Amino acid sequence: MKAVNLHTLNTLKSKGEKFPVITAYDSAFARQIELAEIEVVLVGDSLGNVVLGYDSTVPVTMDDMLHHTAAVVRGNDLSLIIADMPFMSYATGEMTLDNAALLMQAGAQMVKLEGGAWLKESIFMLSERGIPVCGHLGLTPQSVNKLGGYRVQGRDEESAQQIFTDAEILQTAGADLLVLECVPSELATRIAEHLTIPVIGIGAGPGVDAQVLVLYDMLGFSPRMPKFTKNFLPDTGDVMLALKAYADAVRSGEFPAPEHCFT
Ligand code: KIV
Repeated sequence: MKAVNLHTLNTLKSKGEKFPVITAYDSAFARQIELAEIEVVLVGDSLGNVVLGYDSTVPVTMDDMLHHTAAVVRGNDLSLIIADMPFMSYATGEMTLDNAALLMQAGAQMVKLEGGAWLKESIFMLSERGIPVCGHLGLTPQSVNKLGGYRVQGRDEESAQQIFTDAEILQTAGADLLVLECVPSELATRIAEHLTIPVIGIGAGPGVDAQVLVLYDMLGFSPRMPKFTKNFLPDTGDVMLALKAYADAVRSGEFPAPEHCFT
């Protein structure tokens, strides 16, 4: 695999070729992901749940994200690396710029922020200053306390329309990628077809441009497996085979299957 950049991902979208994205939190897994030729690595704040043992992503700090981003960057030279901005690290414009700059200086090539229209100025500022941005709509885990739990979003017409409009606003503000989490497949497909930027789904059905899974979920390490994930680890415990099986299943459209989707 050649070094992946935004141009690579836009070309894949324009050719209708789906690509895999996976989370990672350390150098060892980041290296395996590069060897498996997975285009994009997300240093997700899901590290709060799967690595640090918290019950949400809310306690994750900028120091946590910087530490794990730098570790992933040291292990992987070829995948495009996105770092999550943690809870409250983008609460104001100034904080957004300062904290995004720190993640980029730790080696990330893009930052990801959770939220809709309220982020448009922040995304515009980052984009104008040369920092690529990934938006995140639907189920936004940093807002779990406001959402009242981890629930599928956009199930009624009004909230579906809100997510659709927010997606347009984020793209217009300068977002380069968009994650849609836990939304009905039909809504996600409509958004992916409407936007020009690649749309990455998790629990968003097969009609988007890419899929992302939490690494420890797809290796079957998580005590509670969400409906939208799948354990790709073979009985032999070969991690490389699991990563390649996941990448192949995304590229062929075999994953997600109907049992991983919401209607
Ligand atoms: O933190 C994370 O791992 C994420 C993915 C679930 C998209 O944001």
